[in-house]
Amino acid sequence: MIKILSCLRHAVVPSILLCGTASIAFGQTDVSGFWKYTVPERGVSFLELKQVGNEIFVDGRNGFSTKPFGELKGNKLHLEIPSPFGSPDAKRFTTYDAVLNGVKFAATRKDADGDSTEGSLEKVSREEAHPARLPLPELRELPDNGLVRTPPMGWNSWNKFHDKFDDATVRQMADAMVSSGMKDAGYTYIIVDEGWSSYRSKDGTITGNARFPDMKALADYVHSKGLKIGIYSSPGPQVCGGYQGSYGHEEQDAKTFAAWGYDYLKYDWCSAFGIYQPTPADLEGAYQKMGEALEKTGRPIVYSLCEYGLGDVWTWGAKSGGNLWRTTFDIADNWKSMERIGFSQLDITSYPRAGHWNDPDMLEVGNGGMSGEEYRTHMSLWAMLRAPLVAGNDLRDMTAETKSILMNPDVIAIDQDRLANPVQILSVDGKSEVLVRPLEGNAVAVGLFNRGDQPAEISFRWDGLHLGANLGGRTLSARDLWKHEAVPVTGDNFTATVPKHGVVLLRVQSGSFQFR
Ligand code: GLA
Repeated sequence: MIKILSCLRHAVVPSILLCGTASIAFGQTDVSGFWKYTVPERGVSFLELKQVGNEIFVDGRNGFSTKPFGELKGNKLHLEIPSPFGSPDAKRFTTYDAVLNGVKFAATRKDADGDSTEGSLEKVSREEAHPARLPLPELRELPDNGLVRTPPMGWNSWNKFHDKFDDATVRQMADAMVSSGMKDAGYTYIIVDEGWSSYRSKDGTITGNARFPDMKALADYVHSKGLKIGIYSSPGPQVCGGYQGSYGHEEQDAKTFAAWGYDYLKYDWCSAFGIYQPTPADLEGAYQKMGEALEKTGRPIVYSLCEYGLGDVWTWGAKSGGNLWRTTFDIADNWKSMERIGFSQLDITSYPRAGHWNDPDMLEVGNGGMSGEEYRTHMSLWAMLRAPLVAGNDLRDMTAETKSILMNPDVIAIDQDRLANPVQILSVDGKSEVLVRPLEGNAVAVGLFNRGDQPAEISFRWDGLHLGANLGGRTLSARDLWKHEAVPVTGDNFTATVPKHGVVLLRVQSGSFQFR
């Protein structure tokens, strides 16, 4: 009989731990216990499994699943773990297919997003899977770091590339940010998401992996283009896909990121589910810990909290040093996901303010899963919400339409407008919504959104905008920001036929309109 001890952590669902002790006796294997999935040059993830007969149950945050998510047949293990993250519109599973090879399993993992990795599964102790909880700081309010007075704008690698990218890709993206006109349009941060890190060196310093051999040189290159650069880590021991996180190394990592010259940190909860509770106190403490570490470096670093909106982060994110905080689970490149996330933000529009922004996730514009109409709705809605505009497409290869959406100066101006008043719902009629946001210069942005599957006629009253409309005296002027043309202000109402999933976005102002 061979006893195996190992443990794995699920990539996108770090809360799910499957682990156990495998006793292999004459073809019988018990995989109950903690398991570690190791992918060379990448990192580890942990799982906890409970085996009953041939069926395998998976441990989630609230104990074992009530139905089996795997089976063991001879020396072959198959696991299918539903992801609680991401779009509920799509059934998302991470699967493991593993074959016992000596005392380890040789395993292939396919993530919910279709990424596949080859690694090994070995049994480990509970302690390795669940490192001891280190103390969190006493909660306090960190000083405002003075950064991002308007919503940050940039590019992030995740939506398009997941972890399949390298140093050269990031440099090319910086080049394209400049040559495409994105930089001139206001996009500034090039953000390296999951996939850059490897193991820690002997003194605990985090290192880049083979695809990212010199993180400082990369930062220098991006800076040489007049851009800023962002990096990605987690309050847990691993980021969501198993690469190194900052748990127990918060100060050391903050110092390293600062020494390399990074200007932005996205800090993703991921495997912190296995250490802390997702309560407001633990969340706040864990984010404050890194907030303090960043502050100590003395370098201006934008702090982007990513914990999917848990514990109403919009109520305390700024206190723990956050400049922006994700309000939802991950966006996907489809209408349902974008629509659900975008319109759900209307409940929390009073929280964003200069330096502290609600982040409904990155843009999918240009990734191909939505129509031009839908992408214009995406961009318009994010602008109305004053959301960070972080492109998630391949900037080297943009169609004219994608460019016209991402670089529409009038729409970006709405996003970046400094007047603090939040977006409001002017009217809702079935699937038609009219949103308004007061802007600087006695102006109002008006978005007529058609969430329905058929074209819809949508109207609003000019005097409902409270711009002191003296309609007979034609004191208002209006412009359609997607058609790039003036809109006559006649009659009491404005009415437009808005295509399915489409938008008409106007800037209305008292007095004559300043054309850009
Ligand atoms: C989480 C985040 C995403 C991305 C991935 C990387 O799902 O919400 O934005 O960073 O992790 O694994």
